[in-house]
Amino acid sequence: MAETGAVARNVVPLSDADLVLETPRLVLRPLAGDGRDLALGVRLFTDPEVVRYVCSLSSEAELAEEMPVITRRGAGGRLGIWVVTRKDTGEAIGTSILLPLPVEVDDTDWSLVVPERYPEAEIEVGYMLVRDAWGQGFATEACSRLLEFAFESTTLDEIKATTHPENAASQHVLTKCGLRHEGMRRAYDCECSGFSITRAEWERKRRAG
Ligand SMILES: CC(C)(COP(=O)(O)OP(=O)(O)OC[C@H]1O[C@@H](n2cnc3c(N)ncnc32)[C@H](O)[C@@H]1OP(=O)(O)O)[C@@H](O)C(=O)NCCC(=O)NCCS
Repeated sequence: MAETGAVARNVVPLSDADLVLETPRLVLRPLAGDGRDLALGVRLFTDPEVVRYVCSLSSEAELAEEMPVITRRGAGGRLGIWVVTRKDTGEAIGTSILLPLPVEVDDTDWSLVVPERYPEAEIEVGYMLVRDAWGQGFATEACSRLLEFAFESTTLDEIKATTHPENAASQHVLTKCGLRHEGMRRAYDCECSGFSITRAEWERKRRAG
C-alpha cells in the first residue's frame, strides 16, 4: 500500500455521488442499512448455497443488529460495502466490498474502518450475489468496477482477494478480472487461495484492453 495509518491522516472524503459506480448493466451504491438492504442481506445470508464457501448462515435479527457496523465506511468513504443493483430491473442482486482483509480472525475487523485514514492492513475485493443472478457475468462486472475505483480513486497500490480453495466460480471471476493466484495463504483464520493485483498490473491490463 502507498499509505499507512501513520502517514495518511486527513484523507479527503469522497462525496456520496462519487461512491455510486456504474457499469454497463449495474449500479453499485454504498450499503445504506435501510429495509431494502436488510432484505438483500436476508436473501444472501439465509441461503446455504450462497454462504457455502463464505461463512455460516445468519438470521434476520442478527443481520439487523450488524447493520450499524457494516454500513461504516473507511478512508473517506472509499472502503466499505456496495450494493450491486441491476440497471434493467432495479433489483438489488448482491454486494461487493473493498475492506481490510482479516488474517488470523474469521471476519472483517470493523474497528479498522474509520473515515480519516487507510487501515494498516491488506485491502481485499469481494462479492456475493443472490443465486438467481449467478452465471450472467455480474460478479465479474462488479469486481472489475471496484478494481477500477480502487486504482483510480484510492492511493492503494495492491488489492488482494481470497477464496475457499474449492470456490472455483469465485476464482474464475478473480482471474478474469486480472488477479494472480498467489497460492495458499492465511486469511479468515484458515488456509485460503490467495489472489492479488498491483496497480502496475491493473494499468497494464487496462492498456491491453
Ligand atoms: C462466486 C459468485 C459471486 C460468481 O458470480 P457470477 O456472477 O456467477 O460470476 P460470473 O458470471 O461473473 O463469472 C463466473 C465464472 O465462473 C465460471 N464458473 C461458475 N461455476 C464454476 C465452477 N463450479 N467451476 C469453474 N468455473 C465456474 C462461470 O462459467 C464464469 O466464467 P465464464 O464467464 O468464463 O463462463 C457467485 O457464485 C456467488 O455469489 N457465490 C456465493 C458467494 C461467494 O462464494 N462469493 C465469493 C466469496 S470469495
